[in-house]
Amino acid sequence: MPGIASEPLKFAYWVPNVSGGLVTSDIEQRTDWGYEYNRELAVLAENSGFEYALSQVRYTASYGAAYQHESTGFSLALLLATQRLKVIAAVHPGLWHPGVLAKFIASADVISGGRAAVNVVSGWFKDEFTNLGEPWLEHDERYRRSEEFIRVVKELWTSDHAEFAGDFYRIHDFDIKPKPAGRPHPEIFQGGNSTAARKLAGRVSDWYFSNGKDFDGFSEQVAEVRGYAAENDHAVRFGLNGFVIARETESEAKAVLREIVEKANTEAVEGFRNAVKQAGSSTSDKKGMWADSEFKDLVQYNDGFRTGLIGTPEQIADRAIEYKKRGANLLLLGFLHYLEDVEYFGKHVLPVIREKEADLERV
Ligand SMILES: Cc1cc2nc3c(=O)[nH]c(=O)nc-3n(C[C@H](O)[C@H](O)[C@H](O)COP(=O)(O)O)c2cc1C
Repeated sequence: MPGIASEPLKFAYWVPNVSGGLVTSDIEQRTDWGYEYNRELAVLAENSGFEYALSQVRYTASYGAAYQHESTGFSLALLLATQRLKVIAAVHPGLWHPGVLAKFIASADVISGGRAAVNVVSGWFKDEFTNLGEPWLEHDERYRRSEEFIRVVKELWTSDHAEFAGDFYRIHDFDIKPKPAGRPHPEIFQGGNSTAARKLAGRVSDWYFSNGKDFDGFSEQVAEVRGYAAENDHAVRFGLNGFVIARETESEAKAVLREIVEKANTEAVEGFRNAVKQAGSSTSDKKGMWADSEFKDLVQYNDGFRTGLIGTPEQIADRAIEYKKRGANLLLLGFLHYLEDVEYFGKHVLPVIREKEADLERV
């Protein structure tokens, strides 16, 4: 994929639209899941160099998240509050019909001038489906459904006479108007790290989201997903999750991490650990998200500490550049005290990353 590697690294932040913050810990988190706070944060983020925001989807109280705002509606509200930010709404195949979702996102895209995107999540939270009376498919079947889901929404966004005949969805001569704004279709991100998830990305997703990973773990995923993409003549970009603790000294940053883990809400983390056995651990090769996560990793529920974006701005910038060299096109970031930390990141970390990127170009 010529050109992609030399693009500037992009940044996204996790929208805190779920209560409890981004770490399951009783440490003070100066953040808020409500709209007013999130509106201010979104404006600050786009002025601090963030190109994307990713909202989370959680439908019911669970594992430290007592309150949740719905992802697609909240994303549209953030789009309306901002000028340039692209907002990615997380959606579950199985709970959304792809035609209804395609229609919603087409409208959001037109209203926002082409800034809507989706993150297709195949699910780990069995009770969320079964307690709503919906079937819980076996792991790889969920991914087969997700592939059909993505193919259907793309077809509906791009064809005036959409047709699809699959095992999960059937569409006949359907025309969504308005179509999305100014490009073939809104970007499709995909969460999920198992073998089935990697193959899915190599076939149909525009972006593959990796959970937090060290350098080798990330490289291994990139190589495998690129292999699947090459087999399918498909182009895919890579986003990597990481939890940022940027402080003036490394010891300050590490002390914050220690405090987060010491004050972990053990019951919620253990409950989560048990629930996510429905993800990668339930597959035959036992690969995938959370399959090898330890207690400490799960305190940031997307393994965000593993990426190691914890230290001084210089140290964090060095790691960001190394991940870029290994194939990252985007870093998806979580923070403890969102407003303060996003501003600090924009002022003190991002400029160092940009300097180092310019040095890379000169080499
Ligand atoms: C960046 C990212 C964001 C995710 N967001 C959500 C979410 O908002 N809600 C949700 O239920 N699952 C979310 N997931 C989890 C996925 O749906 C999936 O269950 C998980 O990645 C396990 O996938 P695996 O079984 O393929 O390893 C997210 C995953 C990633 C990597």
